Amino acid sequence: MKLQVDHLNFSYGKDLPVVLKDISFSVREGEFISLLGPSGCGKSTLLNLLSGIRSGYTGDIFVEDQKITGISAHFAYMPQNDLLLNWRTILDNICLYGEIHHKKKEVIPKALELMDRFGLGGCEQKYPNELSGGMRQRAAFLRTALCEADIYLLDEPFGALDVITRGEMQDWLHDLCAGLHKTILLVTHDTDEAVYLSDRILVLGRAGEGIRDEVVIEEQNRDREWLFRQSRLRSQIHHIISDRESTDEAG
Ligand SMILES: Nc1ncnc2c1ncn2[C@@H]1O[C@H](COP(=O)(O)OP(=O)(O)O)[C@@H](O)[C@H]1O
Ligand SMILES: [Mg+2]
Repeated sequence: MKLQVDHLNFSYGKDLPVVLKDISFSVREGEFISLLGPSGCGKSTLLNLLSGIRSGYTGDIFVEDQKITGISAHFAYMPQNDLLLNWRTILDNICLYGEIHHKKKEVIPKALELMDRFGLGGCEQKYPNELSGGMRQRAAFLRTALCEADIYLLDEPFGALDVITRGEMQDWLHDLCAGLHKTILLVTHDTDEAVYLSDRILVLGRAGEGIRDEVVIEEQNRDREWLFRQSRLRSQIHHIISDRESTDEAG
């Protein structure tokens, strides 16, 4: 198994409520998993724990059967609201992590090669405010992709984009993933985004409730037309989300 999360529990403080309760799941190599859940249910917290930038949980995280503690080179993390630095060119933004790790010389040729594939050809010397929202997001994604990690943690990468650009970016990510051979964990609260992109969707309840259920999506040949027809999947997911809510209200 590429990634295994075993009985993860987390709270931000002794007297604060439990955010993540008994979270267990595993991810196969090359699988695309979405974590779908309402605002405040702990999606970003979970990615923070996996990436190692936050500690203090109980439970275990394994990558390829090795227990992980703290920051690990296996994960590339694109946090929510990932920002480009406005005073650096796009190329310098993209190569930021390489520069931090004293590997800028090695990273630049790779960055230049990938910029075309990420729809950023010709933007090397431009500054972030000269680019559209979608292009900035692709630049932030490329910066993450250059980390040479094998598991990508993406926290609502398209959440701040308008609906048309978001659709374009989803199409772009969908096509890109086919050739990327990476294991991806995408956090989203957009059901269609999860259906369109994932091999499997883990549906989270509210904070402290854990994973309610998972939905496997088998179709390999997806496009927008296919997505429009998936009312059965949409309603299955809606049921998982609203079932417990109506029970809660009744109780
Ligand atoms: N630094 C923090 N200190 C205390 N509580 C926090 C902190 N960060 C997040 N929380 C709380 O933890 C819960 C989960 O937050 P988060 O993981 O950001 O949710 P999501 O990403 O699913 O919207 C929320 O109730 C939030 O208010
Ligand atoms: Mg979040």
